[in-house]
Amino acid sequence: MYLTPEEERVLAGEEGTTRQQLMEILVAVGKVFEADRMVPIRSAQVSGASYKTIGRWGLEWLSSLDARASVPAILNPVGMDRIRWKEMQIDPSFAQKQLEVIAAYERLGIQLECTCTPYYLTITEYGDHLAWAESSAVAYANSVIGARTNREGGPSALAAAILGRTPCYGLHLVKNRSPDLVLEVEGAPDQCDESWYGALGYLAGKIAGNRVPLFTGIRPARDQLKNLGAAMAATGATALYHVRDITPESRVFKYETSGLETITITADEVSAVYSSADPDAIAIGCPHCSEEELHKIAGFLAGCRVRKPLYIFAAREIIARAPDAVCKIEKSGGKVYADTCMVVSPALEQYQTIMVSSGKALSYVPNMCGAGAVIGTIEECLKQACKE
Ligand code: F3S
Repeated sequence: MYLTPEEERVLAGEEGTTRQQLMEILVAVGKVFEADRMVPIRSAQVSGASYKTIGRWGLEWLSSLDARASVPAILNPVGMDRIRWKEMQIDPSFAQKQLEVIAAYERLGIQLECTCTPYYLTITEYGDHLAWAESSAVAYANSVIGARTNREGGPSALAAAILGRTPCYGLHLVKNRSPDLVLEVEGAPDQCDESWYGALGYLAGKIAGNRVPLFTGIRPARDQLKNLGAAMAATGATALYHVRDITPESRVFKYETSGLETITITADEVSAVYSSADPDAIAIGCPHCSEEELHKIAGFLAGCRVRKPLYIFAAREIIARAPDAVCKIEKSGGKVYADTCMVVSPALEQYQTIMVSSGKALSYVPNMCGAGAVIGTIEECLKQACKE
């Protein structure tokens, strides 16, 4: 693997032990995946942020580092709303450790936006090289924006944030970005909400595994693409997908599909992912809500009284951009929390059954929260929340 003279100096420890240690991580990853060089990155998104997932050893490692990010770098959701954690009934001893994790990242120059939707906040353009870690953000960056990122682990994303580069392999190379599977969707509804694409992604991820699928027969909008990719990355390992005539790399690939395996997914199969249940809590915002989704939720809740715990999750800056919608949601009895989500926070572990509008949450909630999960449309979720 070729290293520039500057990279060699870092690796030799001439810029301190932290930068040396982090360069060793990048070089080791590069060697494993046979990268021939490093590539400069425009931004990083760093996972391993919730104390629930990194624990004591992760906190000790972070606290031992002494360096600053050299590119814009955003943190993944943490285990609680940094300000309203008491309202979330977070155990104070957990909160103390979580605040130490946050302080450690802040010292390293990582922006405390704590979101899996960094694409709403940072400038990311077609063709940019990135080092993003959260799987749904990676799928969105590659597929919807046409940027290039592998799915980084927590340490490699942090190393990339500090050193401003990442090994050039995998999805950084055009040759690895062409579709190798066709998923033909039959009977997709013209009008549907984001959850339908979450349910489609829930099925499609299991079929695609780590292949790069090309969808035909669907015309998803932006937040629907977000849900589709998030679910596929959860039930499969999808980091990039294409949708004919929708995703930007149709300018690069002519979608020559002859010779590719083609699998059909029907609308009936998607409908079967939905099930009825009487949840004891409702959680929306996986991935974190957009401003449009917050307004939509506020509209549905107009004149309603929320009677079951209703959690809405979004990035702090997105919440700040939609004050009217957030005020309406909270007046009706729902809670709009920043920095965290239903999966990485311990707050939702108290429930038996959680209703979600996301294919990713449907897949993760049972494992990470120990609760049952059912998926419904956003409207169905809100009706359940208001049910007497
Ligand atoms: Fe984001 Fe949490 Fe879902 S990190 S994608 S809201 S599991």
